[in-house]
Amino acid sequence: MAIDVILGLQWGDEGKGKIVDFLAGQYDIVARFQGGPNAGHTLKFDGKKFVLHTIPSGIFRPNQINVIGNGVVIDPITLSKEIDLLNNAGVVYQDRLLVARKAHLILPTHRYLDAASEASKGKAKIGSTLKGIGPTYMDKTGRNGLRVGDIESPHFEKLYSALKEKHLDLLKIYPPIDFDLDAEEKKWMECLDILRQMKKVDGEYYINAQIKAGKKILAEGAQGSMLDIDFGTYPYVTSSNTVTSGVCNGLGVSPHQIGEVIGITKAYCTRVGSGPFPTELDNEDGEFLRKEGAEFGATTGRPRRCGWIDIPQLQYTIMLNGVTQLVVTKIDVLNEFSSIQAGISYEYNGTTSNQLPYDITHTKITPEFQSFPGWKQSLENIVEYDHLPAEAKYFVEFLEDKLEVPVTMVSTGPERKKLIKKATAVMTSLN
Ligand code: GDP
Ligand code: IMO
Ligand code: MG
Repeated sequence: MAIDVILGLQWGDEGKGKIVDFLAGQYDIVARFQGGPNAGHTLKFDGKKFVLHTIPSGIFRPNQINVIGNGVVIDPITLSKEIDLLNNAGVVYQDRLLVARKAHLILPTHRYLDAASEASKGKAKIGSTLKGIGPTYMDKTGRNGLRVGDIESPHFEKLYSALKEKHLDLLKIYPPIDFDLDAEEKKWMECLDILRQMKKVDGEYYINAQIKAGKKILAEGAQGSMLDIDFGTYPYVTSSNTVTSGVCNGLGVSPHQIGEVIGITKAYCTRVGSGPFPTELDNEDGEFLRKEGAEFGATTGRPRRCGWIDIPQLQYTIMLNGVTQLVVTKIDVLNEFSSIQAGISYEYNGTTSNQLPYDITHTKITPEFQSFPGWKQSLENIVEYDHLPAEAKYFVEFLEDKLEVPVTMVSTGPERKKLIKKATAVMTSLN
């Protein structure tokens, strides 16, 4: 099986970018399969930090091909900023960065529709990143969208104008918002040149030919499973399928090609934007996690909501994704706690359950927590799993036990090198 998958098991920002960057060297191709510039994937290595939104996180490895798949939605303005970033960093990407012709384009008016829709919702707003994601996927499923391949058409300007006019009509149903369409449109058209120059492929043919040629592919997810359009905390979700099945639609491959599914979870939990979050900590522990974990959005800079890790939530997303390996990130953020909690079951409507309720937004959930001793020490120089404090190993192995999936790596810092491999080990006991 040729395609391994990395995806987030919570509400996004689990550290996917870091893990993709770390593992990319073992693959021939890294391919993003969904989402768009709502994503912010942070990579840190050699004292440098990069945040990618559209471009796959394998781009800093010198020999890997990076594919922006058909399931991705692309804003040429964001993409051109990312290309600037690569140019400034001296990355040679021209022959290694491919974009699928069937990927949809985010127009400036998609962003205005996103902003107007959010403003009209008042307190019920989704907390969208305002990057135009929802309206673009709406046009895709509504069969109105513009795709990357369309920019090669002699009728492109006409197609663009027709869609723009439609959006301007639609905007009239919302209270007015401020925008300078002429200026944004000019910038957007200029940035299209970047896309014109990029190597375009019929992604599904390309990927399948590479599979046939024996190449190893890593599919990179954006957002997290709890933001999936079908299975997330609807309506407080994004507009794409963030789970493993999204790889098939977003790259054009059959389910038989999926190999390892590497699920990423923080050692605690965060969410940015509105919506339910059963184990959220609205107290000083939550504040501490935010500060210690630098929990501010990589795309919007918004403070992330913080809470303890949530076992029923992870059991759910592991089930949906068919996760075969777990990577636990940001365990170092828990270093200072004298005790750590994990939500292990939910109480709602008078019953105890590990099943997420259908109407999770309006169901009052009281999680039951299990407490674990902290390790109260830095993990700074630890490079081997066996050298982690017993309390940290115990916590990791508790996760393996409850989630019934092996943890293969533990991340102890933002840098590429801060990653500890874990072989299937003997269970740690605490005396
Ligand atoms: P992504 O969207 O899943 O790629 O994650 P983000 O980049 O949005 O957010 C993860 C943040 O945590 C970034 O600032 C990373 O640099 C940082 N990070 C990743 N792994 C670790 C870790 O193990 N420890 C700490 N302290 N930070 C980490
Ligand atoms: P990465 O890939 C965290 C959230 C937004 C909002 C909801 C809908 O970095 O993990 P959208 O702009 O998609 O319409 O917003 O989804 N959201 C994310 N949260 N990480 C992300 O991506 C996110 N992408 C979208 O905050 O609540
Ligand atoms: Mg992110």
